[in-house]
Amino acid sequence: MSDLKTALGEAVAAAFAAEGVPADLARVTPSDRPDLADFQSNGALAGAKRVGRNPREIAAAVAERLKGDPRLASVEIAGPGFINLKIADAALSDRANAVAADPRAGAETVVRPRRVIIDYGGPNVAKEMHVGHLRASIIGESLKRIYRFRGDEVIGDAHFGDWGFQMGLLIAAVCDTYPAIAELVEDLNAKGEVTEADRGRLAVLATLGLDDLGALYPPAAERAKSDVGFRNRARRLTAELQSKKAGYYALWERFRDVTREALIRDFHALGVDFDWWKGESDVEDLIGPMVAELDGKGLLVDDQGARIVRVDRDGETRPKKLADGTVIEAPWPDPLLVVSSEGSAMYGTTDLATILDRRQAFDFDLVIYCVDQRQADHFEIVFRAACLAGYAAEGQLIHVGFGTMNGTDGKPFKTRAGGVLKLNDLIEMTREKARERLREQSLGEDVPADEFEEIAGKVAVAALKFADLQNFRGTSYIFDLDRFSSFEGKTGPYLLYQAVRVKSLLRRAAAEAAEAGPVVVAEPAERDLVLALDAFDAALADAYDKKAPNILAEHTYRVAQAWSKVWAACPILQAADPATRASRLTLATATLRQLELALDLLGIATPDRM
Ligand code: ARG
Repeated sequence: MSDLKTALGEAVAAAFAAEGVPADLARVTPSDRPDLADFQSNGALAGAKRVGRNPREIAAAVAERLKGDPRLASVEIAGPGFINLKIADAALSDRANAVAADPRAGAETVVRPRRVIIDYGGPNVAKEMHVGHLRASIIGESLKRIYRFRGDEVIGDAHFGDWGFQMGLLIAAVCDTYPAIAELVEDLNAKGEVTEADRGRLAVLATLGLDDLGALYPPAAERAKSDVGFRNRARRLTAELQSKKAGYYALWERFRDVTREALIRDFHALGVDFDWWKGESDVEDLIGPMVAELDGKGLLVDDQGARIVRVDRDGETRPKKLADGTVIEAPWPDPLLVVSSEGSAMYGTTDLATILDRRQAFDFDLVIYCVDQRQADHFEIVFRAACLAGYAAEGQLIHVGFGTMNGTDGKPFKTRAGGVLKLNDLIEMTREKARERLREQSLGEDVPADEFEEIAGKVAVAALKFADLQNFRGTSYIFDLDRFSSFEGKTGPYLLYQAVRVKSLLRRAAAEAAEAGPVVVAEPAERDLVLALDAFDAALADAYDKKAPNILAEHTYRVAQAWSKVWAACPILQAADPATRASRLTLATATLRQLELALDLLGIATPDRM
């Protein structure tokens, strides 16, 4: 079942072809002048150039052919040869009935489903998440849902950062701070393994909480910047952990588990749930063989004690700004650092091995890395290395970058204390705001306390996510909780409110035993609503192709607005006659289904009432 735009596109294409004008020029698009027409085709202009005829003449001939089409109320020519199409109410009614009957609310699936991995979120052990992680989580979750809904087989993977230099830093800091832990770790290192007999002693590790790690990490990272001795020690510890030295490994397992548990909980509160929670550490066993293989393929080069893969193609350069402001053409990209001079695996090493791992576990067609734009160079280097090594084909690895969420100072958002934001705190802060807003609007007054909390949680998530997703991901935006959480304007709470209003209407209808029936479009507001509902598939396909959930966000807002106009202009339960009431109830049901579905694809859940 195709949408009106596609169906008309086919009719116009056939008319073009019959006029001897290439059919692919016939493109039908929503009208620029909705007051004059619903759709338009500007193809006669390009067609005229192609076949050497007058554009108005082509447009007139095409229009003549379309005039008999029962789906069209009018076909008119404007300007130099634009064809304006107005849909007949009956055709709109048919389409509305089809959308209403469709559990997918009018959305199609892809012809050829692919196997897709979405790498998003990307949190780290002990390090607090920053706004980059927040955006990665919000955008990645939505892409995952959109891809899956379109019919692809999709895995979302958190790619937990648990194996890099920060692990060495943390081991050093913990051992320096807690002598009892340091002693245990040294004992286990000396013994070379952890046995049953050690179980009791390991209990001391369980005293190490997330807050302890969170407090130890930042000063350790700071100290490593200036203290060479400390830095080198952390590097050595990283390499020893990576060779799975028993004591360090046992300590690290605690780091990993305690962080993971808290993160999964926080992500869940944000409506972000991963299919895989694999870590960088999970590919440790693949690294040795991978390095040997890269070596065998002649890709590894020694570089001052380190081992690298060169990924630049002959003489490539790009402009680089020097400290004094002058711009030079510098060679680029840097090589991939595979093994550091201490013998440890780097960020890029685990990323490369992860591609191998994913290839084995889930023979992917595509991997989408939804990660901060600031890592664009890193991915370019890893992807090139992966292609050189034959782990992926050109185009199978894509970096979907995004801008930052900024504070009012225009810099990446920080908490009032100047620190990076904790996901948990952000959610709590937004929830508090949501409670306040609900009370202001006298919403949620009649519900029990626990349900009120649930509603506030949903309003908070909607506020955060919609504020993010309504911008094209490449654009940075300013964090403004007051605006995001308002029930008016282009916000998540506004959308939830519209959906909830339809739900309560339908409950009332059920209570009055008012039945739904075939849609018969009559009012201008109804026309607009059906045209909006009809555009769902196109918006979804476009969001999918461009990896841009903002296109779907825009559509969702359009539907909500169109609905609120129907609500204002057309009595529903009080409609003049039963057939009109039945028609409007079906429209309401179809609207609600599409709204809830679209919101869900943005990662936003709708409460039943407010
Ligand atoms: N943990 C990384 C960071 O915090 C993000 C991981 C992104 N994904 C990846 N495959 N590298 O920067």
